[in-house]
Amino acid sequence: MASSDATGDLSQRSGRTAVLVPAAGRGERLGPGAPKALRTLGGVPMLVHAVRALAASRVVDLVVVAAPEDSLDSVAAMLDEQGLGADVSVVAGGDTRQDSVARALLTLPSDVDIVLVHDAARPLVPEQVVTSVVAAVAAGHPAVIPVLPVVDTIKEVDASAMVVRTVDREVLRAVQTPQGFQRAVLQQAHAESDLGTTDDAGLVEALGVPVFCVAGHEEAFKVTRPIDVVMAEAILARRRASGAV
Ligand code: C5P
Repeated sequence: MASSDATGDLSQRSGRTAVLVPAAGRGERLGPGAPKALRTLGGVPMLVHAVRALAASRVVDLVVVAAPEDSLDSVAAMLDEQGLGADVSVVAGGDTRQDSVARALLTLPSDVDIVLVHDAARPLVPEQVVTSVVAAVAAGHPAVIPVLPVVDTIKEVDASAMVVRTVDREVLRAVQTPQGFQRAVLQQAHAESDLGTTDDAGLVEALGVPVFCVAGHEEAFKVTRPIDVVMAEAILARRRASGAV
């Protein structure tokens, strides 16, 4: 059973906590190459970094990875080698992120009552983000997301590249993963919403369920563009130099 000093009452939980890891994207914005989750940072596939970070949080019992259909065996073998301290299984992902999450969700055993969803493309998520999301769901919030303030000024523009208006930055937040849910809420959201949202909280919002925000972390950014790889490699090198990994 997962437990953590920082989240003492989590050890009293009777249900288990699972993380679904959508990792079936091609990563076209990164340029040609292997599926994004299998590209390496510091010589280690992004997916392995992500699953290690989740397992290290000690509040996660079970990890289900949705991998590209043609790499299921190699992904399973790769994760098996890691000795991660959480049960890890691999399922085939779908055509969209939402499909990949839905397929992983279908495989969960009945004793799981808290479900996180974490992008494999956020390989460097710090432990405290995972822990605080789980703690907020365990405390009674049906849906929880990690967020950061927005640093740029944001403008709405039209199809002719003309500014429509400036949006008030103070009320905006950039949303990360892992996002956490009471299992029944996430299942209902996937069963009833087909909005093509880019995150799971978007589906839950469509049900009218309140979504609570906790502090995200700059190092939980999504590796999407080539510049993100440079940043991720630098963070990893700093962590290795300081003995943190
Ligand atoms: O496309 P984007 O980078 O926003 O993808 C976020 C996450 O969703 C990535 O970890 C990616 O591998 C995953 N994904 C998936 N199945 C898809 C598309 C994306 O699991 N069909």
